[in-house]
Amino acid sequence: MKIWAHRGCSQRYPENTLTAFEKAVNLKGLTGIELDIQLTKDGEVVVFHDEKVNRTTNGIGDLKSFSMRELRKLQIDAGNEQTERIPTIEEVFDLLEGYLKQGLQLNIELKNGIYPYEGMEQKIIDMVYRRGVQDSIVYSSFYARSLEKIKKIDTHAKIGVLDEKVSDCLYKMRGGCGADALHPHWKGMDLSLQNLQGMTVRAWFDGHLYPDKPTGTRLDLQKLEEKGITDVFLNEPEVYL
Ligand code: G3P
Ligand code: CA
Repeated sequence: MKIWAHRGCSQRYPENTLTAFEKAVNLKGLTGIELDIQLTKDGEVVVFHDEKVNRTTNGIGDLKSFSMRELRKLQIDAGNEQTERIPTIEEVFDLLEGYLKQGLQLNIELKNGIYPYEGMEQKIIDMVYRRGVQDSIVYSSFYARSLEKIKKIDTHAKIGVLDEKVSDCLYKMRGGCGADALHPHWKGMDLSLQNLQGMTVRAWFDGHLYPDKPTGTRLDLQKLEEKGITDVFLNEPEVYL
């Protein structure tokens, strides 16, 4: 089973922050890191999960209504009176570039299922190529049309199609979105192993994010493999490596 850090090490550290990514790169045996991107009002690519800033920062409102300058002022509570800021993708590349050139992978999820963020595909692909890390990137989105755009811009792009059920991922893949991997929810494995033969199936999990306390539950990765899952995006990859 290949293990990815979902939004970084997001059970013990605030998700999608430089700290969560820094903790992840130090894990031996980690396949890759997953993160989410959106655009600010003035078109900067930032790493953030929710469309609203309310849950994880001290701000209120849609992320897309903040300029980069305004977004910088928001604080993410990191415990022990420490705070973090929402990182730009460039800051994350500064941290990860060397690791990506040595084989670590990065799954960039375009969070454009609700707001389409016009032009985000071209922006992120340009940044990836400027860094020379294109061979280590997997793009993903729930929005199949965005994946089509990525494939059109970069025919070599590796793409994972997101949905709840693996059958819906497959349906979108066969619809021509350009994906070469399926990214279902781990409980959405509604196809038999035979139907998934030879496919890359990267399953994602929800819940159990910082600042919730670790639950201590352990997944049976063997059982997940038997369902056809090849990779898992875990909030707590450090427990399995
Ligand atoms: O990319 C897998 C997973 O991250 C999708 O769900 O809500 O955690 O972004 P979410
Ligand atoms: Ca994600």
